[in-house]
Amino acid sequence: MKNVLVTGGAGFIGSNFVRYFLKVHPDIRVVNFDKLTYAGNLENLWDVARNPQYLFVRGDICDGAAVETVFKDQDIDTVVHFAAESHVDRSILGAGVFVTTNVGGTQVLLDRAKQHSVERFVHVSTDEVYGSLGPDGKFTETTSLHPNSPYAASKASSDLLALAYQHTFGLPVVVTRCSNNYGPYQFPEKLIPLMIVNALHNKPLPVYGDGLNVRDWLYVDDHCAAIDVVLQRGAVGEVYNIGGNNEWKNIDIVRLLLGILEKPESLIDYVKDRPGHDRRYAMDASRIARELQWEPSVTFERGLRSTVEWYVSHRSWWEHVMSGEYMEYYGKNYGAR
Ligand code: NAD
Ligand code: TYD
Repeated sequence: MKNVLVTGGAGFIGSNFVRYFLKVHPDIRVVNFDKLTYAGNLENLWDVARNPQYLFVRGDICDGAAVETVFKDQDIDTVVHFAAESHVDRSILGAGVFVTTNVGGTQVLLDRAKQHSVERFVHVSTDEVYGSLGPDGKFTETTSLHPNSPYAASKASSDLLALAYQHTFGLPVVVTRCSNNYGPYQFPEKLIPLMIVNALHNKPLPVYGDGLNVRDWLYVDDHCAAIDVVLQRGAVGEVYNIGGNNEWKNIDIVRLLLGILEKPESLIDYVKDRPGHDRRYAMDASRIARELQWEPSVTFERGLRSTVEWYVSHRSWWEHVMSGEYMEYYGKNYGAR
């Protein structure tokens, strides 16, 4: 492995992964290929911009010619694929771009990777492809796929395409499916950063439905370490669940955040539920622990506290990304609730 193409490296998890990877593997070059949509921001990587092992190339994974050029010019031998439209609420407001990018873009990338005979292609996916759980049980890698939102359906489609390229063409694909991430540089449209930013502004905290939906939360650095382990040692054609073994009801997280920020619970605003809202996600991540010796290392207490501290001390970062586009989205998503 000499030249790794990281798609979507300017987004939340991608930028944390680029930083992590350059630190852990200083001898491997990283080429970050990103379209810079509303969710992509080069400020996320200001500290590695001058690293000689790092290159940023602006481009769209749906653009076959641009993808071909980066593979050829940069002698790409490995792919870690993050680029996607990633927000469920946006997929409810408009599903088209989710199919275009997540399904169409992934197919373009798989084709080019096949053409250039890469050594490995890690496809980064989500627990949401499995659908929703009742009060008991966890998703395993053999749970059948039952995606419920347009976002989840587009990710399930791209997982199946990636695995089909492995089966049909022998492309060395490995798929990871991770639970909800949190940490620095997460766009403030997702639960944890949105609640932090609203609380800092003394604005209402919009909790969907009864607030009792459950998610399994993982600190982003732990996800990055898991992807690296899968990249190095995962078995080709296999799927690895990644999770924090850390289930929380949304309302309890909102209360925790208000406590850390010393803000009143009167800011909590129960709003109309998300259509088709999945009730509970929980990951059985025993396979990756058993076979690849990966386990989460950051406790929720420590991760949440350091995330809050990061947002408090990086006000200019989030004020900057909350541009006109963000305000327009906010009005559309929350205005009618
Ligand atoms: P994000 O929305 O923060 O970042 C997505 C990045 O992809 C952005 O930099 C954006 O500019 C880029 N991008 C979008 N369309 C593109 C295109 N057509 N061509 C090139 N680049 C494009 O997303 P994230 O939260 O960092 O998620 C990254 C990946 O991890 C996604 O595939 C997502 O499905 C998966 N995932 C996310 C979570 C989570 O909790 N955030 C959990 C599990 C899996
Ligand atoms: P989110 O961060 O959008 O992740 P996902 O839907 O992919 O799990 O949402 C996490 C949970 O928080 C989910 O149950 C929806 C809920 N939620 C709210 O209650 N209010 C909000 O404003 C947002 C963005 C999410």
